[in-house]
Amino acid sequence: MNLEIVTTADGSTTLYNPELNEHYHSQRGAQGESEHVYIQAGLRPLLEAGQKHIKILEIGTGTGLNVLLTLREAAANPSVQIEYHTLEPFPLSADVAAGLHFPLLDEAPELVPILPIIHKHWNNKKLLPNYDVHKYYVGLLDFAACQNFDLVYFSAFGPKKQPDLWTIEVFTHLRTLLKPNACLVTYASQGQARRNMQAAGFEVFKLKGALGKNEMIRAFAKAL
Ligand SMILES: C[S@@+](CC[C@H](N)C(=O)[O-])C[C@H]1O[C@@H](n2cnc3c(N)ncnc32)[C@H](O)[C@@H]1O
Repeated sequence: MNLEIVTTADGSTTLYNPELNEHYHSQRGAQGESEHVYIQAGLRPLLEAGQKHIKILEIGTGTGLNVLLTLREAAANPSVQIEYHTLEPFPLSADVAAGLHFPLLDEAPELVPILPIIHKHWNNKKLLPNYDVHKYYVGLLDFAACQNFDLVYFSAFGPKKQPDLWTIEVFTHLRTLLKPNACLVTYASQGQARRNMQAAGFEVFKLKGALGKNEMIRAFAKAL
């Protein structure tokens, strides 16, 4: 796949997939969007509630930006144990990974060597004493472990481009991987996708979207 590196408005890079005619992030700011959707709306409420062990599942590792942003949160909260599981059926080549850059790396240069490590081929790594990352080179429907996740970063391509990842079947499968009341956050807010989440047993809320986007979704898994 010929992925192109694109610099977004906040200075962070994203990728463009010409086959899908789709960017991996908002062109208004890859880092800003990911901070808003996954960190501020997803992880921070759990940290602020005092949760001491947080298990996260990311759908679509992509550039590794969410792995890095979550590492920064783990470093700032050393008493919290974060287990990060991330799925990616199409991992990046070393060449593409080498061209990525995010402003958070300028603010925390000690993280610079971590980005290439994220994109090497491995399964489990302790990136910090309180931050374990587990990588799986599979798609969501092939990930069947019983994992009891607290939080899902749902960062698949959008429902128009990859409709097979926003179905009732997919959200029903996802719910079997989650603790009751686990939270799912995603940048998208398409009506059909919301209805599919509801049909699969999620309570769905619309929040203000990132960087001028009207809406995003935060949903909670009802007990099975
Ligand atoms: C919007 S991009 C990823 C954004 C990523 N979180 C980031 O920060 O770069 C969507 C990602 O989902 C991956 N993907 C495609 N099919 C998938 C599947 N069935 N399950 C999980 N991930 C998938 C794509 O390869 C791509 O990396």
